Parts: sequence; C-alpha cells; structure tokens
Amino acid sequence: MINSQRKPFVAGNWKMNGSNELVESFCSNLASSPAVDVVICPPAVYLSKFSHAEFAVGAQNASEFAAGAHTGEISLSMIAEAGCKYVILGHSERREGHNESNEVVARKVKATIAAGLTPILCIGEPLEVRESGGVFDFVKAQLDAIANECGVNYIKNSVVAYEPIWAIGTGKTASPEQAQEVHAFIRKELAALDASAAANVRILYGGSVNAANASELFAKTDIDGGLIGGASLKIEDFTTICQAAS
Ligand code: PGA
Repeated sequence: MINSQRKPFVAGNWKMNGSNELVESFCSNLASSPAVDVVICPPAVYLSKFSHAEFAVGAQNASEFAAGAHTGEISLSMIAEAGCKYVILGHSERREGHNESNEVVARKVKATIAAGLTPILCIGEPLEVRESGGVFDFVKAQLDAIANECGVNYIKNSVVAYEPIWAIGTGKTASPEQAQEVHAFIRKELAALDASAAANVRILYGGSVNAANASELFAKTDIDGGLIGGASLKIEDFTTICQAAS
C-alpha cells in the first residue's frame, strides 16, 4: 500500500466469538480514524448493539433470499436495519463448512449489492492447490463466477479479501511477497473487465495477520488493508493493525 487513490481498509472478523462485554469494550475504546476505514464483523446477534460505535459494522454472512421459510438464516434487509454497511461473503469457513459453492457466493454478492450493502468478497486457495501451483487458476475461477452472475459492476461495489486457506488461524502468514503476487494477479484480472474500478477496489489480505506482521504486509503495493480474525478480538492488537494501515 498504500496507494493514494485507495483508502486503507481493516475489517475484524470475530467469527463465532464475542460477548456483550467485548462489544461494549470495542464501542467505548476503538477509535475511528479518517485515514482508514475500520469495520467490525461480529456474530449477527450483536450487530445492532454497535449503534453508538464510531466505526462501521458488517455481517459475516447473509441469505441470498429476501424472506420466508429459511430457518436460521438472516436477510440482507435485516442486516441493513441492524445498521450494517458491509457483509463478508464467501469466507472459506462458509465455503468449506457450509457447502457454499462459487455460484452460491456469486448470488449472495449480487443480492448484497442490490440491497445497497458492500460485499467483502473472500477468495483464496487451499494448501494442496498452492503446493500444486494452481493458485492463479483457482482464484480466477472464484472471480469469474462472480462476474458471470453479477456483471463487471460488482468490482466498483465490493471489497475483495485474498485469504489463502492455509494461512487462516494457523499462525502461518503468507509472506508479503506471496500475498503481493496474488493481489497483483487479482487486480490484473479485474482490470481486464474494468480498468478504473480495478484501480480503485480495495484488496485486503487475510490469514494470521497480527500486530507484528501487519505493517510489512500493508507496505506492499496491491495490499490495501486486512481482514483480521484472531487478532481482531484483542482491542490493543486490532488498534495497532489499524494504525499500521493508516
Ligand atoms: P485469522 O483469520 O486472522 O485468525 O487467520 C482471518 C479470517 O479468517 O478472516
């Protein structure tokens, strides 16, 4: 980063962690900064408790359907009513643990943009794909599925997060060079569809980002911030990461 035309972006993905106490501590103590877009994505039951926060809030998932008989699901209009601006979509834990295919993710991206919210679209390869040299093809297929469903306009309405699955929650971060290589590829692929949107889209890196390694990752040309899991549960660490991005 951090390219002057793209405002740095740091999102915390709390996954299935948190409590009323943690929500309150973030609302009271996490400062906003005009230099970086900061978003916290808590479990859905906590979303509306952030109404007094200085930072933005996002959901971790959404239904592709508008309403009706979908027990356990949450609609985009509910997410918007809870005060969210963003929705994480296509996280590998949803793709792998909840059978979300590229096509399902693409329909969710389309519905999210139609609802006036911004998808944080997660893509990234498993270890065996990295080891067999298939990273670019894998990531390209994930992106192509979105373009097929949504058309090229999704690029200017989304934030993209590159999260190699082998780096998530493992403490094994991609090196800044490994991450930059894929980020540059993603931007090039998007530029083939819409050069100006691709120059402006924020591409985040996610996977074991912490207070110690964030600056080095964010220093790379095409890394515009991070999607932070474990380290987003500790306010001091998350604050340091936000500062590294700004
Ligand atoms: P991690 O998770 O930072 O704990 O590796 C990142 C993510 O899954 O978004």
